[in-house]
Parts: sequence; C-alpha cells; structure tokens
Amino acid sequence: MGEKEIPGYTYGTQAVAKSPVSLEDFDLLKKTVLFTEEDEKYLRLAGEVLGDQVEEVLDLWYGFVGSHPHLVRYFSDLQGEPDSSYLAAVRKRFAQWILDTCNRTYDQDWLNYQHEIGLRHYHTKKNKTDNVQSVPIISYRYLITFIYPITATIKPFLEKKGHSAEEVEKMHQAWFKSLLLQVTLWTNPYLRQEDY
Ligand code: HEM
Repeated sequence: MGEKEIPGYTYGTQAVAKSPVSLEDFDLLKKTVLFTEEDEKYLRLAGEVLGDQVEEVLDLWYGFVGSHPHLVRYFSDLQGEPDSSYLAAVRKRFAQWILDTCNRTYDQDWLNYQHEIGLRHYHTKKNKTDNVQSVPIISYRYLITFIYPITATIKPFLEKKGHSAEEVEKMHQAWFKSLLLQVTLWTNPYLRQEDY
C-alpha cells in the first residue's frame, strides 16, 4: 500500500501542526542520546533489512499487545471488547512508521509528525483519527516502558539478512536511539511545557 492510501496518515500535510520542539532543541536531544550520522546510515540499512518483514514484525507486536489485557484495553471499545477495525486501521500506520523510522530524514516535517503521534496517544487526539470510541489516553507509564519490547524484539529481524554481528548491533543501537528520541517527543503533550 502506498503511503498516500493509508487512512489517517497525514505526514507532511497541512493537517499536521508545527512541533513545539524546535529543530535546535531536537539537535540537543540527538546529542544527548549520542545519535550521529552513523546512526542515520545504519537506520537506512535497517530499512532495507526490515522492508519485507514489516508484517511479521507487526504480527509479533500485535500478539504481544493482544495477549496483555492491560495493553489491549487501549484498543478496546467502551464495553471493554477489542475493536478489530481500530486495531487494523492503526496497524497500517504502524507499518508505515517502521519504514519512516528507518528511511525518513529527521527534518521539520518529521518533527511535526512526531508531535502528531504524541497527540494521538494523548487526550487531544486519541480515537479521533479513526473515529472510534475507546479509552481517552494511553497512560504515560506504558509509553515509556513499551520502548523495551519494541527494541528487544526487533533484533532477530535485523539478524535475518546475513549481516555481521557488528552491523546488526549498530542497526539495533540506532533503532533504540531513534525510539528514545521519538517517544521523548511524543511525551511532550503529557507534561507542563515549562517542565519539558
Ligand atoms: C498509535 C507506535 C506505545 C497504543 C500508534 C502509532 C504508532 C505507534 C506508530 C500510529 C501513529 C499514526 O497515527 O500515524 C508506538 C510506539 C510506542 C507506542 C513506538 C512505544 C514505544 C503504545 C502503547 C499503547 C499504544 C503502550 C497501549 C497499548 C496505541 C493506540 C494507537 C497508537 C491505541 C492509536 C491512537 C489513535 O487513536 O490515533 N502507536 N506506540 N501505543 N498506539 Fe502506540
């Protein structure tokens, strides 16, 4: 599926507001997680490696969420039943996110869409994109702790295309740093701006 056909995927469009985090502040975040051009290079390589494995990765992550009631509740209707069309709609954007994480230039458009993803996990926009009735916010504590499974479980997929242990490790470190940067950007709406 081309990215233009993904319902609710508004990357780079007028529908996305400007991030409250400036590119200068983002540079400082990159410095803080030791994110360099080498990481960009290894993210591109990860993009090549993961490109045709995206559905398998998502099967694993959705299996993880689906098997934990405390997580799947965020995809559930107000009666507590998992909403399969909500899960499916988000899955398409999640697939594109894997590719964006690896292949996009982390510029103003990218920064803006990170803020949008944050708002979609927060009260401001959760449920709005897919027009569903579900719990109104993803709890902050799970946004942070989810970084570990999304990082740990990607490694076997990075190993599948015959790269050396060193290359796999560099791809994995770059992925972890990118995830930390992104989730840090996503948590902006959760905090008082003067504390962010
Ligand atoms: C939406 C990734 C944490 C539940 C999304 C999207 C992505 C994503 C890529 C789609 C963004 C878009 O609309 O383009 C992640 C990552 C996380 C994380 C990388 C942490 C490392 C969580 C947690 C939950 C969760 C802990 C709880 C189970 C959801 C839900 C949506 C969503 C319900 C849809 C929100 C809406 O109504 O638009 N997530 N997520 N996410 N995520 Fe997360």
